Amino acid sequence: MLKADDRFLAIETSCDDTCAAVLRGDGTILSNVVSSQGIHAEYEGVVPELASREHLALFLPVLRQALREADSELSDLRAIAVTRGPGLIGCLLVGLAAAKGLAYGLGVPLVGVNHIEGHLRAIEGVTRIEPPFVALVASGGHTEILFVESWGRYELLGATRDDAAGEAFDKVAKLLGLGFPGGPVVDRLAAQGDATAFAFPRAWMGLESGGLDVSFSGLKTAVKHAVERHGMPTEDEARNRFVGDVCASFQAAAVEVLVAKLEVAMKQTGADRVLLSGGVACNSALRAGTAALANRVGGTAYWPTPRLCSDNAAMIGLAALPRLILGERDSLDLAAVANLDDLPFGETRV
Ligand code: KG4
Ligand code: ZN
Repeated sequence: MLKADDRFLAIETSCDDTCAAVLRGDGTILSNVVSSQGIHAEYEGVVPELASREHLALFLPVLRQALREADSELSDLRAIAVTRGPGLIGCLLVGLAAAKGLAYGLGVPLVGVNHIEGHLRAIEGVTRIEPPFVALVASGGHTEILFVESWGRYELLGATRDDAAGEAFDKVAKLLGLGFPGGPVVDRLAAQGDATAFAFPRAWMGLESGGLDVSFSGLKTAVKHAVERHGMPTEDEARNRFVGDVCASFQAAAVEVLVAKLEVAMKQTGADRVLLSGGVACNSALRAGTAALANRVGGTAYWPTPRLCSDNAAMIGLAALPRLILGERDSLDLAAVANLDDLPFGETRV
């Protein structure tokens, strides 16, 4: 059973960030190291095989840095928490193998964590929010709308049928030659653009009858056609204006749908609080729209700090903590699981 001043390690390698964090049993984050793999920028998207190889190269330096920043030794660690899925299978395996080796070598418990639950728990690095509430986890790999009935009891209300929200931002940025990952740049350039310049489609996906799934592939294709039809202006000022208008119009369409879905999810569940998490939760328009929604219903909107929003290991530690405190552990046979559908999630024990 983990005590309040015991230290433990958390590891996250489900996508393209190699992450390690040291936490205390009372939930204090002592270090939270994220090494974002630069190697994918030239491909303007994550290449799974390269990502797993990079995890292998980066893991030990990241682990050493996490220990150093927490002023800790390996021998101080009383447990190991690790993401077991969902994610890229080769990437998950690197983190899981490292976690098992450390747990076995140190003779301490291993706890596997659902990555999505990690995103939900990330807020606890900032503030406590008592369920029930509605949550949107949106990143380069996920877009899920959930009802957090209590910690450990999650209902998946809706998800993307195709591209993840962050993937749509990244693909639009790629079309406009803005580099990878594109979300932060699109967000910044959108602020200088006219959101009504292009009438991009909103995929409502049965919203009027309570449908909470989303789809971004049609929107992405519409942006592609608009850019092809218009052609990229060669003159600097005209190009900047065009790019800003496309970013603003695209972002408005994506955010309008997400906020409308959250509104219906809150009505359906009776929740007056809403949590954003995942890299896309850094988006300024999404935050503003969600805060306005919460305000309209007399509730509150929450999101973690940017470091805790995007992939990181501290959130994995926070998600493992309730089980560690109860003295639970997983076996060293624990398997990595690529798909959320194959992971027990709705009834995660806490
Ligand atoms: O949670 P995260 O680090 O996990 C993944 O590796 O997917 O999220 C990264 C995603 C990227 O697609 C990135 O473009 C997007 O989050 N993102 C944003 C913003 N900041 C990051 N999307 C929109 N607006 C932002 N400000
Ligand atoms: Zn994530």
